[in-house]
Amino acid sequence: MTTAAAVIREAAGDAFATPRLGLVLGSGLGGLADAIEDATAIAYAELPGFPVGSVAGHAGRLVLGTLAGTPVVVLQGRAHLYEGIPVSDLAVPVRTVRALGAEAIVLTNAAGSLRGEVGPGRLMALTDHINMMGVNPLTGLNDDAIGPRFVGLGDAYDVELRAALHAAAAGEDVDLGEGVYLAVGGPSFETPAEIRAFKILGADAVGMSTVPEVIVARHCGLRVAAVSAITNLAEGMGDEVLTHEHTLASAAVAAKDLQRVLTRFVKDYN
Ligand code: HPA
Repeated sequence: MTTAAAVIREAAGDAFATPRLGLVLGSGLGGLADAIEDATAIAYAELPGFPVGSVAGHAGRLVLGTLAGTPVVVLQGRAHLYEGIPVSDLAVPVRTVRALGAEAIVLTNAAGSLRGEVGPGRLMALTDHINMMGVNPLTGLNDDAIGPRFVGLGDAYDVELRAALHAAAAGEDVDLGEGVYLAVGGPSFETPAEIRAFKILGADAVGMSTVPEVIVARHCGLRVAAVSAITNLAEGMGDEVLTHEHTLASAAVAAKDLQRVLTRFVKDYN
């Protein structure tokens, strides 16, 4: 069976350079892909096993090339559980990043904030997560060649990579907060009562992605860093009406800062 990694190597040909890092660009955050040099871009639909999403704001293509001098592979947009994608299929893009030779992955997403002082447009480096999706992408037979049956998540969000994110943010004069991300299945936004409950559980941000990718990444040995672009105060905390259009508009504000932080992070990555 031809793997996605084989298709990508073939498409890049002589231009193939082993990526050091994978970057997953979430809702409205795909602009960084345009800064990739010597780019080979492939639509997810061309990549065996890749789930193809249908949500506005997600380009759905993989871009291989260099960013600020560092070889990277960028996943511009992602598929989500709420699109009816089986959770195990969400493993394929992350495992492809690993199969191409990357050692770490940086995951980004748009999220609602449960902290009143961290409003729309702000960035939050994730320190940990709470999985309220009700599913786990590693359910089913384990492939021991990829990773262990039982994977620990005690150190899922890499301390060194997070420190490097903070250094990059400081260098770019961007305010980067920290917090715990709680993942829901979506696609409905939360109720005010759920948000009150999630606060008690210890969540700082809420969103509909990222956690399956973190689990798969740790399983296959990728180091993980993750950043939420805060697009709104979570339901019941502010007076804005939550819509996907609002998410995309607010993500555009945070995306500019995120792009600068990630570019410096990648430049200084060693
Ligand atoms: N809830 C869930 N997902 C989100 C939100 C939210 O408030 N904002 C952006 N993605």
